[in-house]
Amino acid sequence: MKIAVIPGDGIGKEVTEATIHILSALDLPLTYEFGEAGDECLKKEGSALPEDTLKLAKKSDAVLFGAVGESAADVIVKLRKELDLFANVRPVKCYPGIECIRKDIDLTIVRENTECLYSGIERYTDEGAEAVRVITRKACERICEFAFKIANEKVTAVHKANVLKKTDGLFREVFYEVAEGYPEIEAEDVYVDAMALYLITKPQDFDVLVTTNLYGDILSDEAAGLVGGLGLAPSANIGEKNSLFEPVHGSAPDIAGKGIANPTAMILSSVMMLRHLGFEREGDLVENALIEVLREGKVTPDLGGNLKTMEMAEEIRKYVLEA
Ligand code: NAI
Ligand code: MG
Repeated sequence: MKIAVIPGDGIGKEVTEATIHILSALDLPLTYEFGEAGDECLKKEGSALPEDTLKLAKKSDAVLFGAVGESAADVIVKLRKELDLFANVRPVKCYPGIECIRKDIDLTIVRENTECLYSGIERYTDEGAEAVRVITRKACERICEFAFKIANEKVTAVHKANVLKKTDGLFREVFYEVAEGYPEIEAEDVYVDAMALYLITKPQDFDVLVTTNLYGDILSDEAAGLVGGLGLAPSANIGEKNSLFEPVHGSAPDIAGKGIANPTAMILSSVMMLRHLGFEREGDLVENALIEVLREGKVTPDLGGNLKTMEMAEEIRKYVLEA
């Protein structure tokens, strides 16, 4: 299988190097092909996402993406669109050794990735400006199906159908239609403003949240804050054919080049990739090795440790090789 690796800019490159160092310790039939994208690439080649990189991504079995800088909107939004990555999946879990708001948080946010207020339809008017919120039945169906498929106990639809009667009304309606196909999974719906509160007051009550693009964007950053912040938050972008795995964070220019970026978010993204490709055992192995290292406090400065990015990766690699 072929993995397209796009390290990008700043700490994107550093956490990618760390992750590949760990993945290369696994005995797997994976080959890694590197592609360029981002701010540096734009300067060098005149495009933040060259055709070659896009082609490489399309032909791969999965894309492992670090982070880019100011060109993020062009690069990552274009990749999501071109590869039709309709589901953005963000697990929110409390790991040992990490300061979390509660220890028993283990939920997943499934965000629709292609429409809603991010449809890109905006215009100036005489009075100011307006944006169009696009919600289609097809997109609602496939994101809700996706959420029920990965749920163990419950799916919670997050919306604001009391105010946005047509758009969110449709989303809620389709959600309950899809729910009928999964009688063993509990289905409930919650208003988005209430959900913002519940994430803080009772995050342990949730299994899978499914929601439209904008609410998902905001709630998933809030949720990352409950379990240790950006250095720990992985994500997957899943389509029918392609998939892309990336940390939630950006290129972090404030710490780039110092070798102190926390590689955890990127490593956990690669764990999601391994499981998605069917390498469950190897995914568990890397996650467990990471858990050991977190528990021992062999971590980067953002988590209170004094290890460098590659030193932390080396500790994890050792556990992987021992297992
Ligand atoms: P950021 O995520 O790069 O950084 C926010 C803060 O968190 C910074 O203080 C940074 O040092 C810290 N941080 C982030 N990841 C970390 C890690 N792994 N270890 C330790 N500390 C970490 O977000 P910011 O500052 O808003 O954006 C910086 C650049 O990244 C911008 O040019 C933005 O466009 C881009 N960006 C790219 C994304 C992508 O490629 N998907 C996503 C978000 C931002
Ligand atoms: Mg966001």
